[in-house]
This record gives sequence, C-alpha cells and structure tokens, in this order.
Amino acid sequence: MKFIVDQQVEDIEMPENLKLNTFLKEFHSDCLHPECSFGLYGFAFGQSPFPVPKIVQEALIKNADKGTYAPVPGITELRDAISKYNKHYFGMDISPERIYVGPGTKELIFNLLEVLHGTVILPTPAWLGYLPQIRLLKKNYHMLPARANKKFSPDDLKKLALRLQDRQKILILNNPHNPTGLLYDKLELEEIADVCRDQNIIVISDEIYAQTTYNFSKFISMGKIYPEGTFVTNGLSKSHAAGGYRLGYVIFPQHAVDLKRQFKKILATEYTAVSTPIQHAAVAGFEISTEMDDYFDVTRNIHQIMGEYTYHALSTIDGIKTTKPDATFYLLADFNVFATELQKAKINTSQKLSEALIVHPYHTAIVGGDSLVLERTDFSARIAYVDYDGAKVYQNYLDNKPKSTSERVEFVKNNAPKVVAGIEMICRFFSNLRKESLDDLQAHKNLIVT
Ligand SMILES: Cc1ncc(COP(=O)(O)O)c(C=O)c1O
Repeated sequence: MKFIVDQQVEDIEMPENLKLNTFLKEFHSDCLHPECSFGLYGFAFGQSPFPVPKIVQEALIKNADKGTYAPVPGITELRDAISKYNKHYFGMDISPERIYVGPGTKELIFNLLEVLHGTVILPTPAWLGYLPQIRLLKKNYHMLPARANKKFSPDDLKKLALRLQDRQKILILNNPHNPTGLLYDKLELEEIADVCRDQNIIVISDEIYAQTTYNFSKFISMGKIYPEGTFVTNGLSKSHAAGGYRLGYVIFPQHAVDLKRQFKKILATEYTAVSTPIQHAAVAGFEISTEMDDYFDVTRNIHQIMGEYTYHALSTIDGIKTTKPDATFYLLADFNVFATELQKAKINTSQKLSEALIVHPYHTAIVGGDSLVLERTDFSARIAYVDYDGAKVYQNYLDNKPKSTSERVEFVKNNAPKVVAGIEMICRFFSNLRKESLDDLQAHKNLIVT
C-alpha cells in the first residue's frame, strides 16, 4: 500500500534539535582509542541539567489520582499561581483570565501562528523550532538578520515592515535569546515597541529563558512595554528543568476578548487540555515559595559561572568572536575567521564543521549555523554549557559558594570537567587547522623554491 502525504508535510524537515540525536549516533563512533574513553563532549543539547525541583515532583506524585479532564485554558489554581508568579518576578499585573496553559510553549506558539493572520518576521539567528512551524502552516515569512552585535535593529524592523503589504505582521521576539544568550534591555524593547505600534506588528514574545537572566533585575518582559500587542509565552521547561513535563503558558494582550474565544476553539479542537496531574505539579512550581526562589537563584548563578568560563575559554582562540551571555545556557561562537582554512580542509558548510568536530579525536557535539537559521556557509555555532551532573553541582554550590573570579574558575574545573575538556578540544581543532594550513603553505613555498 502506498500512502500519499500532504505536500506541506513533505516540505518540512525533522526539527533540527530532534535530528541531532540521529546525527550524533551516526557520526560518533565508540572510539577504541584509549584517549577517547570520555565518550562525547556535549555542547549540543539545550536542556537544563538540574533535577526538577523537589516540591514540583512531590506535587506530581500527590496528584497522580487526578484522572478527569481539565478545563481547556487550564485549572483555576494554576492560572492563579501563574498570575501571581508574573506579578512577583516580572512585575506584571495579569488577570488569570488572560492566561492559557498548553502542552509546552512550542505548541502554544504553533497555536498562535495558526490563529493569527499575518506575515511572520523572524529575527535570525533563531531557535531552531520556529521555522518548521511557519512552513507547515504555509505562512508568509521574512528573516530579519541580526547586526554585528548579534541583535536585530528596530530600524531594520521598520524598513522590512514598510516593504510588507500585509495588514498585520507578527514578530517573533525571543528574549532572552537562544542561541546567543543575549538580553534585549528596556530601551531596546521600547524602540522595538514603537516600530510595532507604528507598523501594526503584533509580537509573540518567547520568554522561556526569562528566569535564567544572570542579573535578574535586568529582565523586562515585552508584555510590560507593549501590553496591547504582545503575547508572552513561558513555561516549566528551562526555569524548572522540566521540558519533559510539557507545560507552558501564554499571556494574552490586554483587551483581546474575542481572540481568546477563537484561541480556545483551537485548543479544544487540538488537545482539549494539558494533563491534569502535570497542571497540579506546575502549581507548586509557580507558587511563590522559598524553595523555588532558592532554586531559581542557585541555578541561574551556576549557569552564569559556566557561561563566564565558556566565554573566556573560547575567546582565547585567536580571531573568534563569541557573544557574552546575559542569560540562558548558550552562547554563539563565530568561527568565520577560519573560513579559508576550513574550506581548504574541504569543510565548506556549518554542517560539515559539526561533522568534523564529532569525529576522532575531537568527539565534540555542537549545533552548527544552518540549524540556527543562518546561511549554510556561516561558520557560527551554538555552544550549550550544560554537560555536567546538575544534581551534584547544585549541592556542591550550596556547600561552598565560589566568590572570587579564581574560585569560580576552580568551581568549573572541579564540577564540569567535560565542559573544560570539550572547550580544549574545540581549541585544539582550530589550532590544528591553522597549523595544517601553515604547513601546506610552507610545503607549497618549498615546492616553488625547489
Ligand atoms: C527559545 C525556545 N523557545 C521554546 C522552546 C520550547 O519550549 P517548550 O518546552 O515549552 O515547548 C525552547 C526549547 O528549547 C527554546 O529554546
């Protein structure tokens, strides 16, 4: 029997993050070389390494008997807790009626894109999840490339919007940003909001990494700056290290009553509601408590320590540029200064660079540029600094908080040896590349002389 698949499904690829698994299996051979007993240095996966907070786990166990369907927008206790959470941490007054709960923000972003008319504006580089959704929904879209500072500029947004004919446009803002780890500050958000008001652009503000902002007081939600036109999405996946729970929420803009009705129809049609026990567990995660407050504090401090180390260690490679993360557990490293040497070694796409790093003797996994919605020939990569035992490191941090710069470096060396060794491997790869290229040049010169 031959099954015929709809064309828009044929046209999209497996989302890059999930493809990565297959890729790693395919290219990473279990090396018999004694030097390679370390397995793999993992800079590719975007998962928080910490355990799910105890009180969330306990609430899940306690509510395992809740077998009835939940209301479509989410249980009342959870919408109330999310409302208070937003007030406490982000200074936002959101009535619970403006909150809808869904099975992860990825699904909710998809649902918003289904409901909202308009051309999508996607700043790049971008998280690898958006583009397949836009394509599946056959929406018109335009990329908005970042400037040299790796952020998009409001002027560029305006120029692009002026060219688009659509009555309504949708900007996907991701703040703090995956893959760069950068944060848009208040002034930048205000400038973006001015353009949005002027050009009738609505914003989906993906703020899944908000709680990881290292200097937490610096984070400001776009929902506060542009409340009439912003849909804020957030959830349990990164802040609570619970991506597998599949729970996210969206905050609707003020005065979007009819739109909420339309949205509810879509949720009811597609998945009815999020699992009831998971919603009860999430209540414990969003309620204000000392346990959760400490958890956010400790985890963001550890991410920051790992981020500082990774940034400084990679910056020792001559000529490469990396973003200095303000949040998340990623940074973007730009290896384009090596373009000539890479091409000489027949590495002419970012995919090839990922492949070259995964094989012997490097065994190092990174996410290459084309997975970040960059040109295939852009040698930039996302480096996730999370390859360590989160439970152990969390406890070690509590037992002995590193204070000075040197203590912080020691902390990384003692607690995340694979992060340290993996960065050394990346350095070694590029130093070998440079050396091979110089050797080639020398051999070529010798040939001319003789
Ligand atoms: C920027 C960004 N948005 C959304 C998601 C998905 O979040 P969720 O697990 O809530 O679907 C991720 C996960 O990696 C992400 O990096």
